[in-house]
Amino acid sequence: MTGVETSVRPFHPVETSSKEFWAKTAREREESFAALRAAAPVSWQPQVEDPWMPEDIPGYWAVVRHSDIVEVSRSNDVFVSGQGVTFENLPPDVLRGSQSILAMDPPDHTKQRKIISAAFTPKQVQRIADQIEANAGDIIDGVAGRGHADLVADIAAVLPMRTVCDMIGVDPADQRDVAHAAEVITGWNDPDVRGGRNRGEALAEVGWYLTKLGRRLAKERRADPRDDLMSALANTEVDGETLNDVELSSFFTLLCVAGTDTTRQTAAHAARALTEYPDQRAWLAEDFDGRIKGAMEEFVRWASPVMTFKRTCVQEYELGGQLIRPGEKVVMFYAAGNWDTTVFDHPERFDLSRDPNPHLGFGGGGAHFCLGNQVAKTQLRALFKQLLTRVPDFTAGEPVMLEGNFIHGIKSMPITFTPER
Ligand code: HEM
Repeated sequence: MTGVETSVRPFHPVETSSKEFWAKTAREREESFAALRAAAPVSWQPQVEDPWMPEDIPGYWAVVRHSDIVEVSRSNDVFVSGQGVTFENLPPDVLRGSQSILAMDPPDHTKQRKIISAAFTPKQVQRIADQIEANAGDIIDGVAGRGHADLVADIAAVLPMRTVCDMIGVDPADQRDVAHAAEVITGWNDPDVRGGRNRGEALAEVGWYLTKLGRRLAKERRADPRDDLMSALANTEVDGETLNDVELSSFFTLLCVAGTDTTRQTAAHAARALTEYPDQRAWLAEDFDGRIKGAMEEFVRWASPVMTFKRTCVQEYELGGQLIRPGEKVVMFYAAGNWDTTVFDHPERFDLSRDPNPHLGFGGGGAHFCLGNQVAKTQLRALFKQLLTRVPDFTAGEPVMLEGNFIHGIKSMPITFTPER
């Protein structure tokens, strides 16, 4: 165990911070992760190159082993979320307005998650399952006769956005703008996604748009409840507590972002993998209903759509042989944990029959574990049922990747297939 001062601690020679590192492919990054898992599962790294990183943060601990990621995720009293969960130090108003419960600790997190969970039950998910299937059918209706499409823009991005908007009760006329705002919030590192504008400007604009829409919806549903999630959230009382309009609009923003991009990226990576591994596609198609449940877990492991989440250490703690000090940042690399050979046999194989599959795609467990994982799976099931039955010979072409260290994103990807008659 080392106990050196933060300021003199040397950085590990295998680095995970530079723009060059994040510009590599996932396979190339995995070479570094494999080296770190073997030699330095908890390594001290230089701060990421970013104008929003304050100079007094000297570095962070990179956590790459499956068991350590689980340990950090489940030790919510030691590794807290309240100072933000993404690499960059987002301005406090952006943090408050967009990350909601994701960037909260007890007691606020406990209180809000309890209220949200009460309105986010399996019954709610069931309520929207038929709608999700109808939407998936409708989306494929729109492209099936053409023989080609952009897998992301025309298919994978549309279903999650419609699902979240239907759940919350967003008017269909606002859905495109909501989708655009969500895309900027997760893809702000990528100049294409920002439309060439500077980050502060682009983020402020879409953040304000979602905040205003969220507050309006909260007010309207409090006064005139309907059968949707916003009405349930605005009117649910747990232990005498309710959410106010600011809390509701922040959660609305989180849901628009956390609930859309992740599912869309999983669908895009899975479509590409089903093209690259025809034997796996054939295996799944042979008994779709019997095999999709396990297959979806592998879709998520393979995609690892959320690449990193950060925590801040609040008390001395030993992890992976390193002494972590209060105030130090700890970053979990989910993709690295998902390729840990001590947990996954041949992680480099896209194996839809993998069982068990304790991947970290939805987080490593603990208080923040993904609240929408069932909603995500309901969508993946509906979408791939449509694809594999209606355009079963689809071929996904070369993906155009998103820049950045947060979302493992595909911006666009052509898909071709025999047109449906
Ligand atoms: C394949 C799709 C998805 C992936 C990979 C994913 C991944 C994640 C991850 C990694 C976390 C953080 C876990 C942690 O810190 O321990 C998270 C949290 C969350 N997710 Fe998801 N997510 C997905 C879909 C969704 C959907 C569809 C929704 C909602 C409709 C959703 C809502 C949330 C919420 C509300 C949180 C915050 C929970 C908390 O902080 O207590 N997610 N998700």
